[in-house]
Amino acid sequence: MSADTRVPAARSFESGADAYEAHRPPYPAALFDDILRRRSRRPGGRILDIGSGTGRAAIALASRGALVDALEPSNDMLKVLTRRIQHEGVADRVTVRKAVFEDLSPDARYDTVVAAQSFHWTDPDTRWSRLASLLGSDGRAFLFWNAWNLDPDQHDLDAVADVYAAHAPELPPDLPRDLVSHMWADGQIDEHPDVRLDDRITYDWNSQMESAAYLRLLATISQYAIAPAAQRARLFDALGPVLGEEVHLHGTTLLLVVAGA
Ligand SMILES: C[S@@+](CC[C@H](N)C(=O)[O-])C[C@H]1O[C@@H](n2cnc3c(N)ncnc32)[C@H](O)[C@@H]1O
Repeated sequence: MSADTRVPAARSFESGADAYEAHRPPYPAALFDDILRRRSRRPGGRILDIGSGTGRAAIALASRGALVDALEPSNDMLKVLTRRIQHEGVADRVTVRKAVFEDLSPDARYDTVVAAQSFHWTDPDTRWSRLASLLGSDGRAFLFWNAWNLDPDQHDLDAVADVYAAHAPELPPDLPRDLVSHMWADGQIDEHPDVRLDDRITYDWNSQMESAAYLRLLATISQYAIAPAAQRARLFDALGPVLGEEVHLHGTTLLLVVAGA
């Protein structure tokens, strides 16, 4: 990787990769099937995975037969990624490179690009023009994010809001809200002359876990990871009893399919 151009909060991924892999909700299998069905395929064409992390997208795609180039800047993530592609038997289909998106050569071309929960970490000034030039005229990028809310039928949401107000007003509680009807990327794609939105698909899911596991999941989110440890501990101590033994989440995965303009 050349000079480290990541935004400071992105360095929160320099630790905690095992916890990330253990606690972040998975992506729906149907999403990966859809990506492979919809990609414009050149013979032998490889898929670029931006910000591979522990390899959730790279492994899902390689397990379905695709060839993947995985880009990831964090050493801790790379360690888990390398271990997982070997363990899952796809090391011959995934190449791993320590790099940020911004390191890619301007001459690189991919007909399929994926970014799982990672495109928001790229440089806002160059991300769309760089993506458009990678994709050329018939390529597609598949950008996706998971979002979730606490189930209002299972949790006392006023009590949750009170805990955040008292201990961490700047952190985002998982209270019911419109998860996906319009997000920052929609606006940027609309305004950027080099890209257009080809499709927008949502996948709904539910998840249930012990509340201790939910708190470990929250701790993997960068805003929580960079909060002062003592504040995070106070928040989690107060949240545990309010959540009860089990946490029930309503989740959505949003997939944006992006093409060159
Ligand atoms: C939320 S994680 C997503 C990991 C994985 N794609 C997944 O879905 O589980 C975001 C990843 O993007 C990486 N990242 C941060 N800045 C980046 C950049 N400029 N270019 C590429 N990856 C970046 C981080 O190191 C981190 O592994």
